[in-house]
Amino acid sequence: MNHIINKLEEIKRSGNLRVLKDIDTILSSSNMINLASNDYLGLNDDIDLANEFWNKANNDHSRLSAVSSRLLTGNHNEYIAIESLLEKLYNKPALFFGSGYHANSGVIPALCDKNTLILADKLSHASMIDGIRLSEAKNIRFRHNDYDQLEKLIRHNHNQYSSIVIITESIFSMDGDEADLERLVKIKKSYDNVFLYVDEAHAVGVRGKKGLGCCEEKELIADIDIILCTCGKALASTGAYIICNDYVKEYLINTCRTLIFTTALPAINIAWTRYIIENLSKFEDKRSSLYEISKLINDFLRSKNISLLGSSHIIPIVIGESEKAVMVAEKIQQEGFFVLPVRPPTVPKGTARLRISLSASHKKEDIIRLISILEKYV
Ligand SMILES: Cc1ncc(COP(=O)(O)O)c(C=O)c1O
Repeated sequence: MNHIINKLEEIKRSGNLRVLKDIDTILSSSNMINLASNDYLGLNDDIDLANEFWNKANNDHSRLSAVSSRLLTGNHNEYIAIESLLEKLYNKPALFFGSGYHANSGVIPALCDKNTLILADKLSHASMIDGIRLSEAKNIRFRHNDYDQLEKLIRHNHNQYSSIVIITESIFSMDGDEADLERLVKIKKSYDNVFLYVDEAHAVGVRGKKGLGCCEEKELIADIDIILCTCGKALASTGAYIICNDYVKEYLINTCRTLIFTTALPAINIAWTRYIIENLSKFEDKRSSLYEISKLINDFLRSKNISLLGSSHIIPIVIGESEKAVMVAEKIQQEGFFVLPVRPPTVPKGTARLRISLSASHKKEDIIRLISILEKYV
């Protein structure tokens, strides 16, 4: 076990040791404003919404486990109901998974064989990278959002593979910037054998008139081959779904290991997700206030010449070295805002950062106070 002890020492020396915190105690005892969760619409703290849901929950929801996989006896009514709701909203087939990690790490290897070339944005989430590693496909990571490089790679390779799959996030989890989905669709449409896979984990709920994500906002749902949405962020629930075509759905039900070899989610969890998705189009005011406070803080940081990577509700402030990022985060915490440092390997070496994650539940006056604190420390 020496290699583990040595590795652990190395992690400690580089200031990158992670520990699991007693987060409820920290947040409740300090009254800090949470800037580190992904509850972008503030639904997780909306007690009235939760109570409305519990009043509607019925006897079908009294069992707290599905006790088997979807392909055995776990495919309860809530799965049927949520997939048919999603199919109506997106006008395409939907397939529900246990989590975004399950979906990405299972769908990619199921769909990409050794005749496939995967071209993934360099900043794609670890769950997509693990999916790529598990697949037999050859893969190349293109520079973040560098579509000139992507086009070059496609031009050079499209004759040598039966298919090419472009993989990207729509809003990037760590940089908070966006993929240019219109350009990606244009690129993909110039070839018969190029497909587009878009992870909307940080956009679903937040973008689009109905809250379905950037693909809805840009009116590109029909043009994107696989859209993946997670339910554990703005939707304040758990699980994930993909939007695809009918034969891809059928194929995944038959081959996708992370769908087949895992226990289905409990009906109550999916009932809650369905409740949120049914109400998603009504949260327009929450999307607007999230946009407003995001603009406030992004404009301030720009006015201070702090180089920003994007302009969304995810605001990374790159500090550089890990120890310094930890120290600045602690200072901001002492002023009442729970900000966490994000360090390698989650982000590239030398780009440790504070990741400010805004929520529609944050008040404008608190964001103004946050701005004055950031002015002191960054
Ligand atoms: C872009 C992206 N995709 C997928 C996931 C995984 O989703 P889940 O938390 O549902 O496993 C995350 C979560 O952190 C993510 O940021």
